[in-house]
Amino acid sequence: MSDLVEQSKRSAAFAAVDKHVLPSVRVLGIGSGSTVVYAVDRLLELKNNNQLNPKLVCVPTSFQSKQLIADAGLQAADLDDLPILDDAQGGFTSIDVTIDGADEVDSELNAIKGGGGAHLREKLVANASNKLVLIADYRKDSQVLGEKWSKGIPVEVSPLAWRTITRQLEHMPCMQKGSRLFEDEHPVANLRQAVRKAGPVVTDNGNFILDVCVGNIYDPPAVERLFKMIPGVIEVGIFSNMASEAWFGNSDGSIVCRI
Ligand code: 5RP
Repeated sequence: MSDLVEQSKRSAAFAAVDKHVLPSVRVLGIGSGSTVVYAVDRLLELKNNNQLNPKLVCVPTSFQSKQLIADAGLQAADLDDLPILDDAQGGFTSIDVTIDGADEVDSELNAIKGGGGAHLREKLVANASNKLVLIADYRKDSQVLGEKWSKGIPVEVSPLAWRTITRQLEHMPCMQKGSRLFEDEHPVANLRQAVRKAGPVVTDNGNFILDVCVGNIYDPPAVERLFKMIPGVIEVGIFSNMASEAWFGNSDGSIVCRI
């Protein structure tokens, strides 16, 4: 990875943490991936400067993020062990803000996630958060999903039926009610393989991942729903209408925040 890309990830992560992790924040979701590592670096700096809430609790989204939290000496908690924030209002969120990476973010803040295979837990944590803030380098900033991320939509599936699900995904229609959902006539679903042909990648939850290439995605919520309806699909790596902000580090050192 070039120094420029790493620098861009770092500047986006630092800026997002500085804006959102104020001393008032009690519960913070920690995403997964290489950009999030920089967010935790910044949290550690703030902790050492006594600028974090002393009662801050962090909710991990993967074994990786659990380890990052532990290494930074921060307190971790599992999602369902937390109290609901605004129970009196009949709400269901238990996390003030979650900071997470992304593989691509479109102009409406829909995102593709799951490049690291953690999107099931990432979506559970994002869904339980008052705010989801995405951080990424300039290569992930796009108008239409699929424009930049060419590896396909990560779909976590049950190992019991991955071949059947593959066939079903490859027969998904690209049109629905007269409007085009995605570019390619025929999606291609690839079972994600571990390095050196060591077999399928197995997620933290014991499932497989299919990377589904469909070209540009014109209607992310509809594609998310369509894929999610297939029995055996555990979670789809399209995060439609979930993020409230995305921070991108640019190659010239500047930072863009999209709302
Ligand atoms: C893992 C993810 C990651 O957040 C996403 O892949 C971005 O990773 P990175 O910051 O390494 O580019 O969704 O499931």
